[in-house]
Amino acid sequence: MASANDIRTKFLEYFGRHDHEIVASSPLVPRNDPSLMFVNSGMVQFKNVFTGAEHRDYARATTSQKCVRAGGKHNDLENVGYTARHHTFFEMLGNFSFGDYFKDVAIAHAWTLVTKEFGLDPAKLLVTVYSEDDEAAALWKKIAGLGDDRIIRISTSDNFWQMGDTGPCGPCSEIFYDHGPGIPGGPPGSPDEDGDRFIEIWNLVFMQFEQFEGGERTSLPRPSIDTGMGLERIAAVLQGKHDNYDTDLLRAIIEASADLTSVDPDGPQAASHKVIADHLRASSFLIADGVLPSNDGRGYVLRRIMRRAMRHAHMLGAKDPLMHRLVPTLVAMMGNHFQELRRAEALITETLKLEETRFKTTLDRGLKLLEEETGKLGTGEALSGEVAFTLYDTYGFPVDLTQDILRGQGRPLDQAGFDAAMERQRAQARKAWAGSGEMATDKVWFDLHETVGATDFLGYETERAEGTITALVADGVPVDSVEAGQEAMVLTNQTPFYGESGGQQGDTGWLMTTDGARFKVTDTQKKLDDMHVHIGVLEEGRLDKGDALEMTVAGDRRSKLRANHSVTHLAHQALREVLGDHVTQKGSLVAPETMRFDFSHPKPMTEEEIEEVERRVNAQIRANAGVTTRLMTPDDAVEAGALALFGEKYGEEVRVVSMGDAAAVGAPGRPGGFYSVELCGGTHVGRTGDIGLFKIVDEAAVSAGVRRLTCLTGEAAMRHLRAQQKALSETASALRTAVNDVPNRVVTLLDERKKLEREISELRRKLAAGGGGGAQAPAAKEIAGIKFASRVLDGVPPKELKPLADQLKGEVGSGVVALVAVNDGKASLVVGVTDDLTGKYDAVRLVRAGAEAIGGKGGGGRPDMAQAGGPDGAAAAKAVAAIEAALS
Ligand code: SER
Repeated sequence: MASANDIRTKFLEYFGRHDHEIVASSPLVPRNDPSLMFVNSGMVQFKNVFTGAEHRDYARATTSQKCVRAGGKHNDLENVGYTARHHTFFEMLGNFSFGDYFKDVAIAHAWTLVTKEFGLDPAKLLVTVYSEDDEAAALWKKIAGLGDDRIIRISTSDNFWQMGDTGPCGPCSEIFYDHGPGIPGGPPGSPDEDGDRFIEIWNLVFMQFEQFEGGERTSLPRPSIDTGMGLERIAAVLQGKHDNYDTDLLRAIIEASADLTSVDPDGPQAASHKVIADHLRASSFLIADGVLPSNDGRGYVLRRIMRRAMRHAHMLGAKDPLMHRLVPTLVAMMGNHFQELRRAEALITETLKLEETRFKTTLDRGLKLLEEETGKLGTGEALSGEVAFTLYDTYGFPVDLTQDILRGQGRPLDQAGFDAAMERQRAQARKAWAGSGEMATDKVWFDLHETVGATDFLGYETERAEGTITALVADGVPVDSVEAGQEAMVLTNQTPFYGESGGQQGDTGWLMTTDGARFKVTDTQKKLDDMHVHIGVLEEGRLDKGDALEMTVAGDRRSKLRANHSVTHLAHQALREVLGDHVTQKGSLVAPETMRFDFSHPKPMTEEEIEEVERRVNAQIRANAGVTTRLMTPDDAVEAGALALFGEKYGEEVRVVSMGDAAAVGAPGRPGGFYSVELCGGTHVGRTGDIGLFKIVDEAAVSAGVRRLTCLTGEAAMRHLRAQQKALSETASALRTAVNDVPNRVVTLLDERKKLEREISELRRKLAAGGGGGAQAPAAKEIAGIKFASRVLDGVPPKELKPLADQLKGEVGSGVVALVAVNDGKASLVVGVTDDLTGKYDAVRLVRAGAEAIGGKGGGGRPDMAQAGGPDGAAAAKAVAAIEAALS
């Protein structure tokens, strides 16, 4: 028996041999199509290649694409469990031609593959073609030798394939396998075609058109091929099963579920096992691709799928959470081909466990309420919308879960009543908000939140994606369009742009339309927690609500933000190790060029402490360890050793970012050996090595007990070091010494300088006193019978005047001395009176007389020594004359 894994390999290798590029499955969340909730077929990742908007260096491709059909145009959620061939998650094998080969080659390949490679009996195959497609009918006749009775013409949409309401489309031709008359059911197109006898195994789409909103349809530049073969279906045929759930991939999970619950996999509760197996696959692959359960958008579809499965686990009597225990089986079956499943195994396990643990507490009570309420109703009577709303609002029952339960009882739901209850709650929330006052200026955001809802954030996974404009705001009010040159805010249904939060600045970048509009995003902010608002200016073209945008984050800036954010986590941990557990984060700024980290610590860090923090962080960077993100309850997060951030609000679920390798710095680390575990919604590097380099450039006080580190990473840190090195080598060359000798040399120079200053001042003193150097003693005049010595000195610092005056007094013996120093055009004046004369002359009075001459006011001191200053240095001699005059 061929295993599903073998069948996949065979398919890909067949087309690989025929010059097709074997391309990996794209993630389930479409990056290139905002109109789709999930990738629902193999062609989605090639959508723009078909329309000619994107070029690849191959014209043929083959894939095994992960698909989810739960929500949107293709939605199979309700049927899963009740039929043999519906799945929310499945794999689609496909081959694609982008304007290379067309119908004839596609049909020839398909026929060869199923009859030769897979060895199906040609007598058991029949095909359908679109009623108008004579060409395809003729080709089947020629290539496969099928008679007219086995080429069935279908006129309905069944043979015209569309990805969604818009996008590439075309007529198609399907290959059916006939299980034989022993199984009930008619051929395609017949009234009982839904039976199990004739099973569609392959759909060949002849891509010829592109469908636009409003019904317009244009021809694609070149006719192309898109085929899709459900792996589960072909596996069923090749493994001789009628039910996809009996094939090896799904059966393994069903048996594991049966083992864990001790409920017969094929007994009356078989449907529950099927639901669990299918939903486990959908949930796990969605989580691996970055979707996490939430109350909005894609996250809510995931939550609905998970909760639907969890109710079935409950029906099987599982006392403990069941889903997460099935993950190893799934990973063993599919993890080789889909490595992302292995990489995300821990995240998948934790997310499932968390959701099931939480839901279990309300599931029992909700089911009891539902039982009571339906007990009051007659057979087939509808359940009131009010009860369904209570189940939704209080017990967390998605409405389709309630419907699923009612379906088993053949009972409808009063949907209108449910909708009315929902609307009433919205109106109340609105009123409560309107009364809260503080946010009144943001009314526009509240209104928009109600109409357009949360923005799906794709930025953890990608920096480029498509989005559809859900609202435009200019000058504070919603508008329908924006013209070139206008500043505006743009809201989209999904975005790769990070909105400023948790200290990390918002992203910048560009939003563009295919017809040339270009909006430059200068900042992204978050409104009401979950709306990402792109702020900027429309540089070119025009934007209208509903336009599809190519959204590109400025990647280089984002890389720096990632590095600077991740390094705050490493620095936080290193600080705690070096300084102690009292260190907690008090705030941070994560900008592209720098990182600032505020933390509690009572005193300045020493140079050694700073160096040690740097050393530890850089050791983590060099360890190049992984960075993982998981979702947990706050309690579990704390148990995992997470450091909670100060001042942040946490909801029921928290994002936990773990990074680094504790062993690299010989630290015990957190569970799992991580160096750092923190609650964080920010964007981070893939591996610590991406940070490159860490450098603390400043340590300072912010407020009492709070210190701030300013740090650089990567290229910025390198630039900083280079600038420092340049300054140092320039200093060395100016000093004519080696870089290593600079400190010694500078200390010697400073010593010499001090010595010289001392010598200079000594010389000046001698000079002023007229002594030394053989100079003449200052002329001492006799004025009114006493000696008067005076000097005008150029460039002598004012602080040296008093010692000079003292010296002069000593030399005069008995008398009055006056010294004026002129510096930068200003004058300083000192008058001294020897002690024997202070009864007769007052130095203060004399200095004031002199001060007037140099334009100064006042002056002060003691009777034996006084000082004054003035702006007019040129009048120094006049000051001396004025003092002399005051003596006589
Ligand atoms: N797009 C087509 C389908 O999904 C063929 O791949 O059936």
